[in-house]
Amino acid sequence: MVVKKLTLENFRNYENETFAFCDGLNILTGKNAQGKTNCAEAVFYLCTGSSLRIRHDRQLIRRGAEFARVTAEVKSRYGDLSLGAVITESRRELYLNGNRVTRTVDFLGNMRSVFFSPGELRLIQDGPDERRRFLNLSISQTSREYCTALLRFQRILEQRNNLLKERDAGMVLETLPVWDEQFSVYAARIAVRRREYLKELSARATEAHAYLTDGGEALSLAPDREYRGGEEEVAAKIGRELAANYERDIRLGFTSVGPHRDDIKICIDGQDARGFASQGQARTAALAMKLAEVEIFERLSGEAPVLILDDVLSELDLPRRKKLLSRVGNLQCILTCTHASRVLCGAESKKIRIQGGKIIV
Ligand SMILES: Nc1ncnc2c1ncn2[C@@H]1O[C@H](COP(=O)(O)OP(=O)(O)OP(=O)(O)O)[C@@H](O)[C@H]1O
Ligand SMILES: [Mg+2]
Repeated sequence: MVVKKLTLENFRNYENETFAFCDGLNILTGKNAQGKTNCAEAVFYLCTGSSLRIRHDRQLIRRGAEFARVTAEVKSRYGDLSLGAVITESRRELYLNGNRVTRTVDFLGNMRSVFFSPGELRLIQDGPDERRRFLNLSISQTSREYCTALLRFQRILEQRNNLLKERDAGMVLETLPVWDEQFSVYAARIAVRRREYLKELSARATEAHAYLTDGGEALSLAPDREYRGGEEEVAAKIGRELAANYERDIRLGFTSVGPHRDDIKICIDGQDARGFASQGQARTAALAMKLAEVEIFERLSGEAPVLILDDVLSELDLPRRKKLLSRVGNLQCILTCTHASRVLCGAESKKIRIQGGKIIV
């Protein structure tokens, strides 16, 4: 999968600019705060309908402008696609081949990318939110079923939590079972998909990590909670847990069990990486997870995703830099850095210099 052309209109610090990318390594260079990450972010946005950096889409609109538009021409094994997003103060519109797409699930996954930046250290060092977000974005890019279940689950969870905050405890206790039936169904679908995904992610990440560290350290990933059995069995179990926690949930005012509370246990040489891993170890572990993600996308869709490496090369030592670039040599890669000389170029590469939201030649 290759993004051939990307046009940014009033997106972040870009007024109107079109990038033409090559199939191999694209190196975006420029001083700090010129728009390198903004460009990478736009590609990711068209893949997932979300940005990794912000909560509100309106921050993507160039200051003083009324709307932002991002469009891309993509070459995939199913032919050429065009993707677009128009973001206004109050809403956004998504387009596939010029047609408006109203459901996020129909937009997601038409182009896939894996994004790696120094911020990915959060995946190892921060709380469970980051890891769930990773799982949700990653699995949603390859499974419409997961994405649909997740959106429904999030709606039900929000409604259940609102109900838990009501004052009339009798009414709350009476109404909870109504929500719980649906809650359990979608929660189980999410839990089972995550279990399958994590199994593959874990095996591939362990292998990628051994490659990056020359077998020096062993990385392992595992769910922090075991859900055994098929969807029905898991749904029944979650249903029982919900029922057993009514009083606690009412006291807390939110739902205390379910996949929105689950986590991934990440260990390096058997020790919990969170709070123990050094910066370098955390970076390598996160990178191994991302490389595993690339392979899973490739296996599931039959084609490689676009790899976005934002500002990461300067943080890796030379042997790891070489290993990384040789491992992803067959992918289209969009790489940002301040000094292109630090990048070891493969066969096909293109340099794009950016200054103040403009491409300069
Ligand atoms: N909505 C917006 N409107 C206008 N400018 C914006 C908007 N959002 C971000 N910017 C500006 O875009 C500039 C470039 O940001 P970006 O993160 O792409 O820089 P960068 O080239 O990746 O720099 P670095 O090398 O420091 O990572 C920043 O100065 C930021 O203030
Ligand atoms: Mg940047």
